[in-house]
Amino acid sequence: MKGHIPRDFIIDLVARTNILDVVSKRVKMKKKGNNYFGCCPFHNEKTASFSISESKQIYYCFGCGASGSVINFLMEYEHLSYPEAIEELASMQGTQVPYIDSSNNHIAPSKQVESRNLRRDLYTLMAKIAQFYQQQLLHAADAKQYLANRGLNAEIIERYKIGFSPNEWRMTANNVVKNSTEAALYDKAGMQVTNSNNNQYDRFRGRIMFPIRDRQGNIIAFGGRTIGNDSAKYINSPETPIFHKGMQLYGLYEALESNRNPEQLMVVEGYMDVVSLAQYGITYAVAALGTATSEEHIKLLFRVTDSVTFCYDGDTAGRTAAWRALNVLLPCLIDGKKITFVFLPPEDDPDSLVRKIGKAGFEDYLHHSPNLSQFLFTELLKQVDLKTAEGKAKLSSLALPLLEKIQAKAFKLNLLQQLGNYLGLLDISQLEQLMDNPSPNKNNNVNPPVLQMKLTTMRILIGLLIQYPHLASLIVDITPLKQVKLAGIDIFIQLLELCKRYPNITTAQILAENIEQPFYKQLSRLATWEHCYQPDEIETIFSNTMKELYDNILAQRQDELIAKERVSGLTSAEKKELATLLLVLSKKD
Ligand code: UTP
Ligand code: MN
Repeated sequence: MKGHIPRDFIIDLVARTNILDVVSKRVKMKKKGNNYFGCCPFHNEKTASFSISESKQIYYCFGCGASGSVINFLMEYEHLSYPEAIEELASMQGTQVPYIDSSNNHIAPSKQVESRNLRRDLYTLMAKIAQFYQQQLLHAADAKQYLANRGLNAEIIERYKIGFSPNEWRMTANNVVKNSTEAALYDKAGMQVTNSNNNQYDRFRGRIMFPIRDRQGNIIAFGGRTIGNDSAKYINSPETPIFHKGMQLYGLYEALESNRNPEQLMVVEGYMDVVSLAQYGITYAVAALGTATSEEHIKLLFRVTDSVTFCYDGDTAGRTAAWRALNVLLPCLIDGKKITFVFLPPEDDPDSLVRKIGKAGFEDYLHHSPNLSQFLFTELLKQVDLKTAEGKAKLSSLALPLLEKIQAKAFKLNLLQQLGNYLGLLDISQLEQLMDNPSPNKNNNVNPPVLQMKLTTMRILIGLLIQYPHLASLIVDITPLKQVKLAGIDIFIQLLELCKRYPNITTAQILAENIEQPFYKQLSRLATWEHCYQPDEIETIFSNTMKELYDNILAQRQDELIAKERVSGLTSAEKKELATLLLVLSKKD
């Protein structure tokens, strides 16, 4: 367990980074006025609408609305998770990320360094082993023949660093391991098996070797296919400090190498499928390493692309597997992202099919494959007779529990409407009521329209505060705000507390700090909101808007007291309060 990264460290890290340096290494930027402009790496464009504000330390694209701090940029551009982006930034700065455990204790730096060094040494060893396998392939006539029979060309063998493990008990170890340190690493890397007599031998023998690379290109594991009659057709590296199966996809590194921003990715079953498809020009296939489709996989994929296709055999087993995957995928759906299922002819896998019908033929299959909702209803409709009332009732009882799992609002609504169509309902509100009340405020903020946003009092306050964090000092006491019942007030209070705690905090640091919040998108939009106020007006506008907010609180309290007076009467203190309120508020207009 790595633990959490302390907030102070992140704030400090962003402070020490200039976003311009980080972006300029990846996107060509040119100074125009106060800002820098370049072509947006997040959407296709010919005119430069991607801007960086050095003073605010944020980026903003006028074309697609992408915006955020340097951490956000690294996450999007390098397809990294939040902690990965912080690690990346820290290593650019030559510092180490400190981690704390759940009770806020620092995890001993020596432990961290130890585990980082271990990982680094394992990567080095794995690279050496892969090279050894590649050399062995050059000398192994039978392995070369095997690959030739399977139709792989030299270029693809090189691109995927495919090799061969000699069919000897200790040959790989003997060639790669030079000292006792390496011997221990070889074992930790899962490269050998210890039998009951305590004898050790190489795990992979007489196999075509497929190195599995992580997102940075480090070799973290191998899959090996026998070229003989071994009962295990494939064996894979076990879990090791650098290899966690459910988290990895074979071929993802290579897919992103050939296209940083793939329009789609396709999940297939096998190593050979990935490699063969790539040889035929379908460079966007990845394999799930013999594990069932998991939440981790889909999250990983959606970080990199908007459209994911799952490839299955067309037989019953394939459809069952797809149905199982659908159930796993429902809660992870995201509005605007697309999932499709493709079913191949029963006698084929992607490898054999692409060899028969080529890239165009294969992609034709993809274009005609059902999307998630089509597949869902096709499967359900097989189980019911819609001509009868019972059939309709059954359809809704089968579908509703599935639809309930979906968090993505638009997606869910769309499926409900389809269900309504099958049931012959004009109004789907009845169906909605049948479902457990989907908690209304939980996902309201997740996918706001990015470019247009109505400016409410709350948004003006949040927008100004995030752009000019020093404004927080104008608010002496936050406590009265805590009684306000206005949408967004909790976010505003949270930001105020942050800004007060870190008086020199910048816009970019605030964004970085809130990257994982559901309201992040709105926040980053407000960070780049082009208000038309003059610099010397900002404080007054903020104060005036705050006054509006306080009036709002007072008015709320006044309403409360008036209501109470009617129902149960007021205490003398309350009467006094109401009188004061009436006086204060009447002076306003
Ligand atoms: P398949 O049996 O469908 O093989 O296994 P394949 O990929 O078509 O391989 P070829 O074409 O015969 O060479 C699909 C995947 O399941 C895992 C591997 O990841 C394999 O690529 N698998 C299969 C294993 O891990 N172990 C096995 O014994 C078999
Ligand atoms: Mn196959």
